[in-house]
Amino acid sequence: MTTVLSVAAELYPIIKTGGLADVTGALPAALAAEGVMIRSLLPGYPAALAALTAATPVLDLPDLAGGPARLLAGTAAGLAVLVLDAPHLYARPGNPYLGPDGRDWPDNPIRFAALSQVAALLGRGAVPTLRPDVIHAHDWQAGLVPALLHYHGGPRPGTVMTVHNLAFPGKAPSAMLADLFLPPHAFAIDGVEFFGAISLLKAGLQFADRITTVSPTYAAEIQTQDHGMGFDGLLRRRAADLSGILNGIDTTVWNPATDPLLATRYSTPEGRTPNKAALQRELGLAEDPAMPLFAVVSRLTDQKGIDILLACLPALPGQLALLGTGERDLEAAFRAARSPHVAPMIGYDEGHAHRIQAGADILLVPSRFEPCGLTQLYALRYGAVPLVARVGGLADTVIDANPAALAAGVATGFQFAPLTPETLAAALRQAAARYAEPATWRRLQTNGMAADVSWRAPARAYAALYRSLA
Ligand code: ADP
Ligand code: GLC
Repeated sequence: MTTVLSVAAELYPIIKTGGLADVTGALPAALAAEGVMIRSLLPGYPAALAALTAATPVLDLPDLAGGPARLLAGTAAGLAVLVLDAPHLYARPGNPYLGPDGRDWPDNPIRFAALSQVAALLGRGAVPTLRPDVIHAHDWQAGLVPALLHYHGGPRPGTVMTVHNLAFPGKAPSAMLADLFLPPHAFAIDGVEFFGAISLLKAGLQFADRITTVSPTYAAEIQTQDHGMGFDGLLRRRAADLSGILNGIDTTVWNPATDPLLATRYSTPEGRTPNKAALQRELGLAEDPAMPLFAVVSRLTDQKGIDILLACLPALPGQLALLGTGERDLEAAFRAARSPHVAPMIGYDEGHAHRIQAGADILLVPSRFEPCGLTQLYALRYGAVPLVARVGGLADTVIDANPAALAAGVATGFQFAPLTPETLAAALRQAAARYAEPATWRRLQTNGMAADVSWRAPARAYAALYRSLA
């Protein structure tokens, strides 16, 4: 049995702001089937401490980054977890990164450095019964783990650094070096220095044994200047250790046949009809089955290309349901765009996210870049046809309904490129035209619903990777 310590800032269903949580929350069960035992290390947010059951203290840290801390081992929502109880760092309700003013907590680098420091201690055997074979670090919040193991020497486990999003470098001022448990010589180009500051993500990319990202196309894209966000040189140098493993989805949480969040459960496209009507009713949209219902479930940020969709709204060939939170100006723009055809829901709501996948005809993902993307995978499984920008994991998971793919009967959705208001508008029109052809549409839906979007294949790839390092 290979044992893995997973280190991340999010873990579904305990704490989630996006796809990272879905992935770290689903991997333990998926990997158990491959003979890998994953334990997840999580900051002691109020939500994490509240979810923890059968907790035992396993490590006492009288002074961790300016305050006392202890590590609790237990289970939470059925997952094996280690929760770092450090009130001076984590006893802050709500969003894991943002204060009540909507800004990043200024001590975020230190909060997550403390988490990484504890992971590194466990890696070196601080709690003998919890010594992992491999540490799997996710995104910048866990990026220091491989660097701390490197600089502090001694025997160490294998390390995997997974990039879920290169757009978050985890920057800290150079003056913070010691607070991040790093020695002075770490501030160097072959260390953690990044354009005059410290990057916690770079710390991971530099020193992890292996680097993965969440789709093959994104793995290639991030080695280019256009998508490399300043890390492309380093990633090209490490190309032999870098691979893309596509995300799967938790097909028990996302199963239209058993989903407790739906009014009507279903396993064929026809079963969706009452869900569409219910969604239209709920959103105050005309209850017209002939009208294509487009939808978005997304963080409202520049990454997601939502501004481009805004530009297309006047010519939208149907209705739009949008569920999202994020940048204040995008939230305001969508609130202002409300019309008889456009129903914005500014907020975060897991139930609405499920009901939109079950009721919408077309799920839009017009991202500027997308490491993997999960909402298009949920859409496939729920029979909502995805319409996506041809980038990153979106390119890898949707089969475009071009004439050849339609003729071969293999299409599952629509892709367009490059991302402009004109190309998106054309794609919306194309989707609406296909929607008006019931046989074509049903084929797109049934192909999508039959696609294997589970964790089975990706879990095997992770298991092989872990074993090669254990
Ligand atoms: P990212 O991680 O970049 O936000 P993904 O597509 O990988 O993008 O994952 C997004 C996850 O967050 C999905 O599970 C999606 O359903 C969920 N999500 C995003 N916005 C909301 C929202 N406003 N309400 C509920 N769920 C949301
Ligand atoms: C990131 C990416 C998204 C990916 C998710 C899970 O948040 O933006 O594309 O699906 O991580 O890997």
